[in-house]
Amino acid sequence: MTTVTKEAGAPVPADAGAFLSVRDLHVSFKTEDGVVKAVDGLSFDLERGRTLGIVGESGSGKSVTNLTILGLHNPMFTTIEGEILLEGQELTTARESELEKLRGNKVAMIFQDPLTALSPYYTVGRQIAEPFMKHTGASKKAAWDRAVEMLGKVGIPNPKERAGDYPHQFSGGMRQRAMIAMALVCDPDLLIADEPTTALDVTVQAQILDLLKDLQQEFGSAIIFITHDLGVIADMADDIMVMYAGGAVERGTTAEVLRSPQHPYTWGLLNSMPRLDSDLSAPLAPIPGTPPSLLNPPSGCRFHPRCTFQDRVDGNRCVTERPLLAPDRASACHLTAEQKRTIFVEEIRPRLG
Ligand SMILES: Nc1ncnc2c1ncn2[C@@H]1O[C@H](COP(=O)(O)OP(=O)(O)O)[C@@H](O)[C@H]1O
Ligand SMILES: [Mg+2]
Repeated sequence: MTTVTKEAGAPVPADAGAFLSVRDLHVSFKTEDGVVKAVDGLSFDLERGRTLGIVGESGSGKSVTNLTILGLHNPMFTTIEGEILLEGQELTTARESELEKLRGNKVAMIFQDPLTALSPYYTVGRQIAEPFMKHTGASKKAAWDRAVEMLGKVGIPNPKERAGDYPHQFSGGMRQRAMIAMALVCDPDLLIADEPTTALDVTVQAQILDLLKDLQQEFGSAIIFITHDLGVIADMADDIMVMYAGGAVERGTTAEVLRSPQHPYTWGLLNSMPRLDSDLSAPLAPIPGTPPSLLNPPSGCRFHPRCTFQDRVDGNRCVTERPLLAPDRASACHLTAEQKRTIFVEEIRPRLG
């Protein structure tokens, strides 16, 4: 007998008034082993000038979501359903030529590894100047000046001279700054930062995060900041969305989610974070079990095989009924609001210290 998964909650239509509105997004890939459901029923909104932090274990669909916003998947192997509205423009059905106009101009992305964005064959200055010329029609000279200005803004010393260097002449931290300069050169309305500091040492990481905050103040862009580090999120984001196995399990303002998290998976994430006052060499308490296969995800709540609270939910609902996160609901879990509060206050918080 197969288990029937009931989907809870009626889908809410995309908010055409929001700056970015993602509704019931599904992204799947055809592979040799079968269909990977990388994103499965994801909805969220983002307003201008705000930073949304997306957090979740590796493989939860964070990068796929954002590459889909940028239209960067190979249509041969990818099926996309749902809606992505950017200022009312539907992106999932947009033509490649329209997406190309958006990328680097209205929407820009910075990656964990700057070498995926920077070419070894051209000078750093040229790589920053080129998108500016393409999208604004500026002259070569004006675009070069702009590239030098941007390198200065992201804190590269002697930007006039360094603009003529090739990426390999830059240190890792400087390459990261150069990529940020490239992403911001056209003053994008939406900046997607996918684990931009994961590969950097702590000091450089802190500098880059400060830089992003300053630049947001100056440019007023909306930012999607992806990380598996809740500490970084706490520092950077106005709002948090926690992803698990291709869906959002919890969403709220950063203060709400960190102060009174509602979802057992979020509790696990918080519990696995190093504490400031703890011995840094002490092992973290990871969430027991492993993330599920997205080829054949668990029925009902995707997190139920790893959840220690399902016996507190009446009947077999965690196994048969998938709790979805409606835009007005803080967490996708069958525990009642009262249960979530009580469990967090009495059982989880004391463990977090
Ligand atoms: N092009 C692809 N083809 C097949 N599977 C993919 C592809 N890209 C990503 N996936 C799978 O989709 C899931 C989500 O990946 P991803 O969004 O990269 O996770 P993360 O949250 O770590 O960024 C993973 O299971 C990954 O293996
Ligand atoms: Mg990723």
